[in-house]
Amino acid sequence: MPEIAANPALSVRDLRKTYDNRVEALKGVSLDVMPGDFFALLGPNGAGKSTLIGIVSSLVNLSSGSVGIFGIDLARDRAAAMRQIGLVPQEINFNMFEKPVDILVNYAGFYGVPREEALKRAEVELRRAQLWEKANVMSRTLSGGMKRRLMIARAMMTAPRLLILDEPTAGVDIEIRRGMWKTLKDINASGTTIILTTHYLEEAESLCRNVAIIDRGRIVEQGPMRTLLAKLDVEGFLLDIDGGIPASLPVIEGTTLTVADDHTLDVEMPRAMDLNRVFAALDLHGIRVRSMRTKSNRLEELFVRLTGENAGTKAV
Ligand SMILES: Nc1ncnc2c1ncn2[C@@H]1O[C@H](COP(=O)(O)OP(=O)(O)OP(=O)(O)O)[C@@H](O)[C@H]1O
Ligand SMILES: [Mg+2]
Repeated sequence: MPEIAANPALSVRDLRKTYDNRVEALKGVSLDVMPGDFFALLGPNGAGKSTLIGIVSSLVNLSSGSVGIFGIDLARDRAAAMRQIGLVPQEINFNMFEKPVDILVNYAGFYGVPREEALKRAEVELRRAQLWEKANVMSRTLSGGMKRRLMIARAMMTAPRLLILDEPTAGVDIEIRRGMWKTLKDINASGTTIILTTHYLEEAESLCRNVAIIDRGRIVEQGPMRTLLAKLDVEGFLLDIDGGIPASLPVIEGTTLTVADDHTLDVEMPRAMDLNRVFAALDLHGIRVRSMRTKSNRLEELFVRLTGENAGTKAV
């Protein structure tokens, strides 16, 4: 009989983590990542992304909940679960005094890959990471972007079915970042499921099919990237108002108008909508706009919308 529905590459259920200092880093996180997916975990600093990744890759103990990796329960069969995973941690953690080729071969050796086979794989991975010319230099002399690519090459040495990357492109300039995106796309296209965390919406947009946004230990949004992007078709402006703001604000169809402070209005409206409609309606109410600012960073803006005090009450 053919295998029916595939197990998720990652299945997390009601995951909670309280650190010794009582910080509740995860407050009940559930998510599924299907095989073959390219999945982004987005969230502001301190949201709990690295904690989640740490638990999945067995570096951090969970407080409660469960983790399954291709149907293997992490608590029940940690070693088998770990064999499915390649991890690229947030901090660079290889020995700077080793050569890239040795870093890769020794890592594979640790996971039981014979040396001859490891040498072959190292060449493939170093070439894919565009580091083949650097195979025998001291790793300390690699640039920041090269070090990050070396971390990816190392994680691929065990041919993981699930590659997990914690901010793989942090602090890397845009050109090198784009090069890394290509490498990751190739890896995904060859069948490896990828989960990455990032602060860059552009990165998630260019790479990922599905996304979860995590904030203060909770998932606040989850679904296909394009659904999320459709929500971003809303634009936000802050309007500086001359004089006071009247008690009653005009109702402008399709927009959400709120009072930001005594002399600032916050308006959210579809990108396609004409701003003049807003100005005209405000004018009719005797509200004079002195100046306006866009709320520019889309991801930051989205976080604020999803996680701010008014979350759930605004039309997004
Ligand atoms: N080892 C630890 N001991 C105590 N608290 C921790 C530990 N690691 C993380 N935390 C706390 O848990 C919360 C979540 O941290 P985490 O590193 O998971 O966030 P993050 O989403 O990865 O953030 P960033 O984007 O800055 O990397 C934070 O409040 C952090 O201070
Ligand atoms: Mg982190």
